[in-house]
Amino acid sequence: MSGKESYVPIVIESLIFGKNSDYPLYIGSGSSYILYRSKALIFSQNEALRLKNNGVKHLYILENDKEKYENDIAEHIENIVDSKNLSLEEKAVKIYIYSKVYAECVLTTGNLKDNKKNMKKTIEITVDYLLISEFAFTKLLNLSDYDYNEVGHGMNVSIYAISLATRLGFANKLSLYEIGLAGLLHDIGKLKIPKTIMLKNKLNDAELSQIKAHPVYSREILIQNNMDNDDIINGVIEHHEASDGSGYPFGKTEEHISTYGKILIIANKFDSLTRNRPYRIKLNKYDALNQMVVNSALYNNAFLKEFTLLMSKQPV
Ligand SMILES: [Fe+2]
Repeated sequence: MSGKESYVPIVIESLIFGKNSDYPLYIGSGSSYILYRSKALIFSQNEALRLKNNGVKHLYILENDKEKYENDIAEHIENIVDSKNLSLEEKAVKIYIYSKVYAECVLTTGNLKDNKKNMKKTIEITVDYLLISEFAFTKLLNLSDYDYNEVGHGMNVSIYAISLATRLGFANKLSLYEIGLAGLLHDIGKLKIPKTIMLKNKLNDAELSQIKAHPVYSREILIQNNMDNDDIINGVIEHHEASDGSGYPFGKTEEHISTYGKILIIANKFDSLTRNRPYRIKLNKYDALNQMVVNSALYNNAFLKEFTLLMSKQPV
């Protein structure tokens, strides 16, 4: 292979098992790439397992094949929700893996523009999946790790926000999609803050105000990526506001916070409390809900009540 080719890593589980691929697969070795599987040969689930057992997490494809690869996933994922052969758990695993591929693409680069099509597809699929049954919610959340990472946090806030909105009676799929997208992207502005500050235990005033600016940075990134949906932008910028006016960045009181904002405030707080942070250990779901109920002045109480009822279906 010519050394001038560009390669991109792909997560092994994202490949569609048992199907002829339209592009060759490579194994990365240092700075060189070795052909692993020619185009048109089947890649099986056993091979994926064997690679993983040998410590291989990624294969590589040619950059020029990226569109084929993404289209393949997008096409396949649509069949997953309607599949009669897959259980709710199996569907959740595929959807979670595929969603994570695109969530990672966007949340680690801030490049929403170039990933728009697949991002839209994965959130639509997540909405369709969550609408299959009230138990679908638990299956997806069970797959999340609860350590400190922005990708897992964005995905969970999206899942909580879609589920709460459904419970609140949002029947329109477009609104559920918008709230899911706002949930996924709400913290994207943290990309503008140095990692050293994000991971720090004790912050000085200047660092704290930089952290508190992240909802504003999130809005900036969305606008730079041609996002023109005000409901999504308002929800994102308001995710740290509080009903009693004690939140940031604007200190808005409840009557000035949008519906999407009220949902995201709850979804974000709950996932933050139940996720490890560099400076504290995660709470269990019961303690997290309890803390939110004790501090109910911070939230829209009708929404918080529905969220509590939603979470009562979850194992603690
Ligand atoms: Fe945030």
